[in-house]
Amino acid sequence: MKPRKLKTNVYWVGAVDWDRRLFDELIPLPDGTSYNAYLIKGSEKTALIDTVDPTMTNFLTSNLQLLKVKNIDYIIANHAEQDHSGTLPQILKLYPNAKVIATPKCKDLLMELLLIPEYKIVTVEDGETLSLGDKTLEFIHAPWVHWPETMLTYLREDKILFTCDLFGSHLATSDLYVADEAAVYEAAKRYYAEIMMPFRTVIQRNLEKIKDLQIEIIAPSHGPIYDKPNFIVEAYKEWVYTPPKNIVVLPYVSMHGSTKKMVEYLVTALVERGITVKQFNLTKTDIGKLAMALVDAATIVVGSPTVLVGPHPKVIYAVYLANALRPKLKFASIIGSYGWGGRTVEQIKGMLSNLKVELLEPVVIRGFPKEDDFRALNRLADEIVNKHREHGIVS
Ligand SMILES: Cc1cc2nc3c(=O)[nH]c(=O)nc-3n(C[C@H](O)[C@H](O)[C@H](O)COP(=O)(O)O)c2cc1C
Repeated sequence: MKPRKLKTNVYWVGAVDWDRRLFDELIPLPDGTSYNAYLIKGSEKTALIDTVDPTMTNFLTSNLQLLKVKNIDYIIANHAEQDHSGTLPQILKLYPNAKVIATPKCKDLLMELLLIPEYKIVTVEDGETLSLGDKTLEFIHAPWVHWPETMLTYLREDKILFTCDLFGSHLATSDLYVADEAAVYEAAKRYYAEIMMPFRTVIQRNLEKIKDLQIEIIAPSHGPIYDKPNFIVEAYKEWVYTPPKNIVVLPYVSMHGSTKKMVEYLVTALVERGITVKQFNLTKTDIGKLAMALVDAATIVVGSPTVLVGPHPKVIYAVYLANALRPKLKFASIIGSYGWGGRTVEQIKGMLSNLKVELLEPVVIRGFPKEDDFRALNRLADEIVNKHREHGIVS
């Protein structure tokens, strides 16, 4: 993709990664991603905002050549992670006059992760500005979205907020701006769930910090740019502020069908009681879909057989992730089947320590479910619906 103009002398110069299917060797990318870098040519100085993933350095350098960029004065490093700062060493070689602008914490990380020499980096404080002549950059420290060193950069004259990972989406598209809001909403929610959700309260503070800025364009570092910024700001408000919904998320594994029978019975019982259920077979599911479901859910019910005295390993992985993502969940329970004995319930309970959830009496049975077990599942469904009602969580 060639450079694309946002405003006079402001260009997208990044790279679209149509083929990437896994991020951080962890996160599935069903729709690829992009690494957005931006060039701002002021009347006196030129600045590059962020770079690209090192696998795509040539796209950035060829975009700079196409724009006939002879000199870069400043490279703004909003975030030290390699998918945005990983091409800094090559750009500093090509443009030896350039100084890197970063928060003090980002300076430290750039030196450690990318071996950028200290003398190349100038630190900026929260609220500090940098004049490019007819254009002014304002730096807004925004720690913990999603690393400790992150910042946002606001281009005053053009009212563009460069937010790096905040408000981003993993979506490869030829559209510079959001064209298909439904597709971008899905990708941005997935991104929020996987990357930003653990920092929900910090994001609330950051939304406060930017609420008085006049913003015409939000330009994130992944996915399309928002020329209607309200779309993504309102979506974030919904995800971080609103109470959980009348939804049960049910991730499970079943080796021989006993836990699966319990899952099917409980799902039917919950649906009959007016609850929305999102059921995930952990041997088949895209873990990003599970993360997205956790954004809105009030309750998680984990389904697991006992394997070598504990939960199935795929359940351990999912529960660990759910605990690390710190969703808004209010209640949790466990269902499953065992053959002779083990510590499945204790182990799952112990892994939910980050979540402020009330644990509802688990239903863990021997072998295939029988009449008494179905009665116990009805009791659990009743308890979930009653707890939701007590807390005003209704559809
Ligand atoms: C590899 C393996 C290990 C197991 N380890 C245990 C165990 O440590 N304790 C136990 O009570 N049952 C154990 N079981 C038996 C299962 O928990 C039991 O068959 C259960 O009903 C399976 O539920 P499912 O049909 O949902 O997979 C094991 C089964 C398998 C296949």
